[in-house]
Amino acid sequence: MSFIVAIDGPAGSGKGTVTKLVAEKLGFITIDTGAMYRCVTVEALNKNIRPTENEKIEEMMNKISIEMENQDGKQKVFLNGKDVTKEIRMPNIDKNVSAFSALPIVRNKITPLQRKMGQNKNVIMEGRDIGTVVFPNANVKIYLDATDEEIAKRRYKQNKEKGIEVTYKQVLEDIKKRNSYDSHREIAPLKQAEDAIYIDSTNLTINEVVEKIIEIINKKRSKY
Ligand code: DC
Repeated sequence: MSFIVAIDGPAGSGKGTVTKLVAEKLGFITIDTGAMYRCVTVEALNKNIRPTENEKIEEMMNKISIEMENQDGKQKVFLNGKDVTKEIRMPNIDKNVSAFSALPIVRNKITPLQRKMGQNKNVIMEGRDIGTVVFPNANVKIYLDATDEEIAKRRYKQNKEKGIEVTYKQVLEDIKKRNSYDSHREIAPLKQAEDAIYIDSTNLTINEVVEKIIEIINKKRSKY
């Protein structure tokens, strides 16, 4: 028996944090699908491949191995056997990931992998196209949103805590650019599935969002 929860939304809407907390409380496993596109981007940049070099990307995608493991409640990401958990979060990857994730050759390989990872499990999968493309029959679909300004405010604060010096204006510009790119690409763009429940996290705390989602899941499970 499996129960699939899809959480989609723009970068910075809080999907990652919320997914982890909900999964911990319910004993579900989590799959961060963005991490997979980030691995593709690391590999392409390591090999000096540009998003326009179709043949090289195809060759790279035929050889690539991406694995995710949960170690002590934390997700570790392995690219061709190497732990890249930290590397995939670097600013250079943030900047380039949208362009690689928009490519059909990349998505055609990654989407089936995600379906396989979520099979026969109680899983919360978060990304951009989980409720629309990867698992259109998910048991629960959530679309988690927030304004660009709120997202930038949160990111700016996180950066400051990590000692990363970027102005609020720059953070806001980067967020707007990435979320606009992800929403307007041709294949599997970020959008709310028709049957997804919309949650605007702009004025909610993380705990309030977590409680709301748990309530939605429990209600659905009681009828399942
Ligand atoms: O969630 P994230 O910021 O780690 O995602 C990185 C990028 O990957 C994001 O800008 C768009 C892409 N992505 C995607 O196209 N489809 C997904 N299901 C998840 C992420």
